[in-house]
Amino acid sequence: MQNILVTGGLGFIGSHTVTTLLNNNLQPIIIDNLSNSNLDVLKKIKNISGVQPKFFEGDIRDEDFLSRVLFGNKIDAVIHFAGLKDVADSVKNPNKYYDVNVNGSKALIKQLIKFDIKKIIFSSSATIYGEPKILPIPESHPIDTINPYGENKVMVESFLEDLCKQDDQWKATSLRYFNPIGAHPSGHLGEAISTKISNIMPHILNVALKKVSILDVYGNDYDTKDGTGIRDYIHIMDLVDGHIAALSCLDKQNGHNIFNLGTGKGISVLELVKAFEEATNQQIPYQFVGKRKGDLSTSYADPSKALKELRWKAKKGLIEMCEDSFKWVCSEKYKK
Ligand code: NAD
Ligand code: WQD
Repeated sequence: MQNILVTGGLGFIGSHTVTTLLNNNLQPIIIDNLSNSNLDVLKKIKNISGVQPKFFEGDIRDEDFLSRVLFGNKIDAVIHFAGLKDVADSVKNPNKYYDVNVNGSKALIKQLIKFDIKKIIFSSSATIYGEPKILPIPESHPIDTINPYGENKVMVESFLEDLCKQDDQWKATSLRYFNPIGAHPSGHLGEAISTKISNIMPHILNVALKKVSILDVYGNDYDTKDGTGIRDYIHIMDLVDGHIAALSCLDKQNGHNIFNLGTGKGISVLELVKAFEEATNQQIPYQFVGKRKGDLSTSYADPSKALKELRWKAKKGLIEMCEDSFKWVCSEKYKK
């Protein structure tokens, strides 16, 4: 059985990935510093999978910690999720973001080199494309980072590129995610929603749970079908399957490869709200407020490279994304 080191494996995307790795007879070994997760997630993974994966609490910037984990466990490949992801926070605290996202990734790569582990999948982001010049956005789209978080992602992608150029045994894949939403279909695992999160789905869920009375829709005069922003929402389990596909293709690929993970469909804020109402029978009252600083009008993926080379495509629709998000927050934890 292959051992897969999963950094940030108790976070939103990492935890869902761990359940699918276990389903695919792959052995996840999780490291996480719990800065944006907690040990309850480990129990949830066990409840879903029947197995409690190995977990090591620690920071990817701590090379001694990494070295101890890698010394004690034979690792075949790494999926690197650990990092900070709040774009607005990265603008306020660029040094903190550089330290965790860039220095953390460097420390990890240094230890991987030491232990001769040369296969990695990295969580990148569609934010690095900036304002789209081509739609749908292909991987060849020019990079135009508009925030420190995006700059961090570009830097790590370019380390991986250099690493693969210097040593042809290295195999690295950067996956550029569009907008993951949804939750595990069991209803027992999902994204921890807090008032700190600025993404749309947690806001819709807070309105559905009546924790917030109304959804603020940022802008209604974009040049889009209904004036609201357009994004490529992808079900978390489809996104996870993209990682499994990328992992299984690593061996036959050369060097550093980049893939978009999106559905290819652009959905407006109002379409998302309508789909949520239809899927859950909940009313989501909303009001238009001013545009959010730094927001793009439209962003959606050209996912054809992943289909051609990884044989992966997103299968789940918007209704399922909304149903599963709502099922998750209706679990005991959030009802209270
Ligand atoms: P998340 O915050 O839920 O998960 C990240 C996990 O990493 C958390 O459990 C956190 O505790 C852990 N972590 C943070 N810093 C760490 C450190 N220094 N050492 C060890 N563990 C650390 O985020 P997520 O949504 O699951 O995102 C995972 C990755 O995907 C991130 O790299 C993020 O930038 C990237 N990404 C996410 C999105 C999204 O919309 N969720 C979109 C594009 C890219
Ligand atoms: C989606 C749409 C908003 C909240 C961010 C990061 C990106 C990536 C994913 C990590 C936009 C609108 C939102 C609300 C609203 N993360 N909106 N009311 O901005 O595409 O991307 O998360 O890599 O890097 O920037 O996602 O969910 O914040 O917004 O109207 O309360 O919803 O204006 O059109 P975004 P989002």
